Amino acid sequence: MGTKSLKGRDLLGIADLSKDEIEQLLHLAKELKSGERSLLCNKVLGLLFYKASTRTRVSFTVAMYQLGGQALDLNPKVTQVGRGEPISDTARVLDRYLDILAVRTYKQEDIETFANYAEIPVINALSDLEHPCQILADLLTIKECFGTVSGINLTFLGDGNNVAHSLLLGGALMGMNVRLATPNNYQAKPEIVEKAKQIANNDAQISIGNDPIAAVRGAQVIYTDVWASMGQETSADERIPVFQPYQVNEQLLSYAEKDAIVLHCLPAHRGEEITSEVLEGKHSRVWDQAENRMHAQKALLAALLGDS
Ligand code: CP
Ligand code: NVA
Repeated sequence: MGTKSLKGRDLLGIADLSKDEIEQLLHLAKELKSGERSLLCNKVLGLLFYKASTRTRVSFTVAMYQLGGQALDLNPKVTQVGRGEPISDTARVLDRYLDILAVRTYKQEDIETFANYAEIPVINALSDLEHPCQILADLLTIKECFGTVSGINLTFLGDGNNVAHSLLLGGALMGMNVRLATPNNYQAKPEIVEKAKQIANNDAQISIGNDPIAAVRGAQVIYTDVWASMGQETSADERIPVFQPYQVNEQLLSYAEKDAIVLHCLPAHRGEEITSEVLEGKHSRVWDQAENRMHAQKALLAALLGDS
């Protein structure tokens, strides 16, 4: 199955894609990384973001420009949806103007409503539940570093959040072993863990625990994210002491494989989930990872618009 099969589809969660489709996207991303192609002339992407964004907003925008298309920032603060126009109405109207829509929301259900009412492809640009575009870039980065994603041991430390969920599902799909170490009250959603285990079958190990050192032993990829995601700012202070043992620092890194790489979706809070030393250190691949957002999304846009 090639990327042609993605034409017209939505990407609401990473498991909307099959292993073959992800492999095709990674292949196309690599190809697009080595040269620009005007695949999306006259195509327009809308970006409707209810939360802040640097990487996702800019990488999607530049991806469209470099592929010959346009991107339109539909800030909810200055569009009627922010004043209460129903998503169902907004989606049907945007469908008449745009070729593709990327939405960043709090509730996953809101992205699903956009997808239900718009016939154009709708991309989840992050919700409280998932961050599938991030994980495509992460898989691309891991593949570039190790030549494969299958069989790689990835450990995620910190909050069982949207990024952790998409890593669990994306890792399971690709045969990557994903271990999560989170404080007990901040685990990933059980239904996501269950779904990841079902997808993984016997091809990948999915494990959940609360011991950061045990989780890091043998890890080739160490991944972390903020302890309080967007929308959780009021609990940020109370989370700091609970999450402290999960900080990615030189000491914790010493338990990982010698050639382990460190990833972080960014933005990072230095001195909280990751130390400055590690973020800026020799194991860190975070800047390549951030760059890969654009390449992976170029492949995704081209595939969903059927022009790859
Ligand atoms: N990693 C990521 O999605 O970053 P932004 O919030 O800046 O888009
Ligand atoms: N988990 C973070 C990711 C930011 C890219 C958040 O949702 O805020």
